[in-house]
Amino acid sequence: MSKLILGIESSCDETAAAVIENGRTVLSNVISSQIDIHKKYGGVVPEIASRNHILNISQVIDGALKESGKTFDDLDAIAVTYGPGLIGALLVGVSAAKAISAARNIPLVAVNHIHGHIAANYIAHPDLEPPFVCLVASGGHSHIVYVKDYMDFEILGRTRDDAAGEAFDKIARVLGLGYPGGPKIEKLAKEGKSGAVKFPQVEFDDNCFDFSFSGVKTAVINHLHKLEQRGESYNAADIAASFQYAVVNVLTEHTICAAKAKGADKVVLAGGVSANGALRQSFEQAAEKNALKLYYPTPILCTDNAAMIACAGYYKAQKGEFADSTLNAAANLKL
Ligand code: KG4
Ligand code: ZN
Repeated sequence: MSKLILGIESSCDETAAAVIENGRTVLSNVISSQIDIHKKYGGVVPEIASRNHILNISQVIDGALKESGKTFDDLDAIAVTYGPGLIGALLVGVSAAKAISAARNIPLVAVNHIHGHIAANYIAHPDLEPPFVCLVASGGHSHIVYVKDYMDFEILGRTRDDAAGEAFDKIARVLGLGYPGGPKIEKLAKEGKSGAVKFPQVEFDDNCFDFSFSGVKTAVINHLHKLEQRGESYNAADIAASFQYAVVNVLTEHTICAAKAKGADKVVLAGGVSANGALRQSFEQAAEKNALKLYYPTPILCTDNAAMIACAGYYKAQKGEFADSTLNAAANLKL
């Protein structure tokens, strides 16, 4: 029997709703991005994000239902992101999901946003099944996760300070490229030399899978300050390419190392940063060299969307894990 799930996502600056069938078939995927609103501030302003989610959420949910040709009566469950993310932003999606669930008597599923990013790959690759090692690299998270089963996760490594996407956004701001930084750095880096400046790639003795991106960020800023103080000009494309290389290389090496340590034969990429072409290329080469099969989602499924939340919700519902009306948002939720 076919199962229909409505997904709702509002953890950061995208208000999104989607309807998916049997976990992997997308019937609709509506995303209302607030990028144009936040870019004039150089990043996401939490209060403005919450207000815009409130303005958009009903329309986005209606749009997702209409596009799918379904109604509330057809739904088997509503899956909503309840963390991690911006608390005020999360509360909008959670409140909407709880209201619909109560009014229509539809089961509610609480989804961890990081789980959602991983699940984006099940939609993009209908043949993909756990176990695999997944790199989740986004604006808020940089995790290496061993996905043992659909609902069984082991965190192998995580960032000890900034997330990879956060570093992209910060360096883009320093170079005057605007928000969000990732796609802008990627574009500029294509015209630069990745070996022009050697920026640090941090390794830890106690956990070789952990990351640190605040060092590379500071190194880029210091490098630019020194040049400015000396009155020397710099090639922004070379800086972008060298910075991107340092981040991409460390993400690739740690993830491949983790996959080998776990004896995994599949490596999966997830999160906004996995839309990066240089990252994909670096992983393509490393996967081929190490006889690993590589999976990553289409760019629209890499960044925040509700189809991935509905997919994660489907597997949670399969396990009988439902939420009730006491569900609350959890800004610092762990996987
Ligand atoms: O997954 P996502 O939409 O939101 C979070 O859960 O954080 O990721 C957004 C992040 C931003 O930091 C953005 O700069 C980064 O993903 N990003 C990229 C690219 N596209 C988005 N980073 C590098 N290259 C890209 N092409
Ligand atoms: Zn995300």
